[in-house]
Amino acid sequence: MAVEQGLDAKRIQELDRQYVLHSWSVQNQISPLAVAGGEGRYFWDHEGNRYLDFASQLVNVSIGHQHPKIVAAIKEQADKLTTIGPPMAHEARSELAQLLAEVTPGDLTMSFFTNGGAEANENAIKLARWYTGRDKIVARYRSYHGATAGAITLTGDPRRWPAEPGIPGVVRMLDPYTYRCPAGHPDPCPVCTGGPHLEEILQYEGPQNVAAVILETIVGTNGIIVPPDGYLQSIREVCDRHGILLICDEVMAGFGRSGKWFACEHWDVVPDILTLAKGINSGYVPLGAMVIGEKIADWVRDKYFAGGRGTRRSARCGAKGSSGASSSCATARRASRSSPSTRPARRLPRLRGSQRQRWSAAST
Ligand SMILES: Cc1ncc(COP(=O)(O)O)c(C=O)c1O
Repeated sequence: MAVEQGLDAKRIQELDRQYVLHSWSVQNQISPLAVAGGEGRYFWDHEGNRYLDFASQLVNVSIGHQHPKIVAAIKEQADKLTTIGPPMAHEARSELAQLLAEVTPGDLTMSFFTNGGAEANENAIKLARWYTGRDKIVARYRSYHGATAGAITLTGDPRRWPAEPGIPGVVRMLDPYTYRCPAGHPDPCPVCTGGPHLEEILQYEGPQNVAAVILETIVGTNGIIVPPDGYLQSIREVCDRHGILLICDEVMAGFGRSGKWFACEHWDVVPDILTLAKGINSGYVPLGAMVIGEKIADWVRDKYFAGGRGTRRSARCGAKGSSGASSSCATARRASRSSPSTRPARRLPRLRGSQRQRWSAAST
């Protein structure tokens, strides 16, 4: 089949309707806009109409469209090496992992790179199960954790329904939604304060059977729910009491979106596992990460780590890399240093002097 060049908007839409399957949509009820280009906070169509990208596409283009430093990083890395296998070490991946260890809170130090957020969450629950030797995962209703089999089971919103029954062992707790509290919000509300509600769920599930609690630190697509002060700390305390790991999914809330590098820092809580994607490189190429604390890192060092993710997929842009592939890591390394929203030097009190200088020099 001959590929047409220089298509107009009408033809792009015709081809789209015929050949493209769009996620979370009734195909014949959508009319996707044909986008011709973008720059900074704007993108435009083929008629030259410019749109202010309030949605930041998938709430991921934190750094804006076509940031010259990231585009340059893609080109530079594509010229040198477009992919690298998991058993190898590579400058971009090694340095990105070090940068993540510097900016993530507490003792979060070791990163496993993936193609995106769903794979980061898949690996987080697998690792939590191996580490604890327990099966169950507590997840919340107003949540989205990704579209792969395990991640969509963790997801509490109706996008989960068509994928059910999903993976076994996922149990649910309610959300701290103080505006429409599921418990009617008496004061103090056992749900919105976190700890008492989780304790009750654990009574029914058996805390000795629960490997992890996974939550979006600030709920994203299910309503931008900011937990009340004290909530996250109380969840952390209950987890600690029962040897349960806390996984914070900051795929959406991370990388400066809440005003700090990571949302859990607002409440001084350090999760055992932090999952990331989106803002890590603004989605220019696929990349996610699972960052683990020292306790789990030390444990896993002499174990066979059976974590995995998709391998490289080629893409028309030519620079699309796989999980932790050289080009993906190169973009994230550059993005970490270029984000105007994260102003590294001001927001990194725990960095030592030399590290601070490195970040501030790189971000200007
Ligand atoms: C909180 C959260 N977790 C996980 C995901 C899944 O990430 P990905 O689409 O990169 O697999 C998303 C995506 O929107 C998300 O918002």
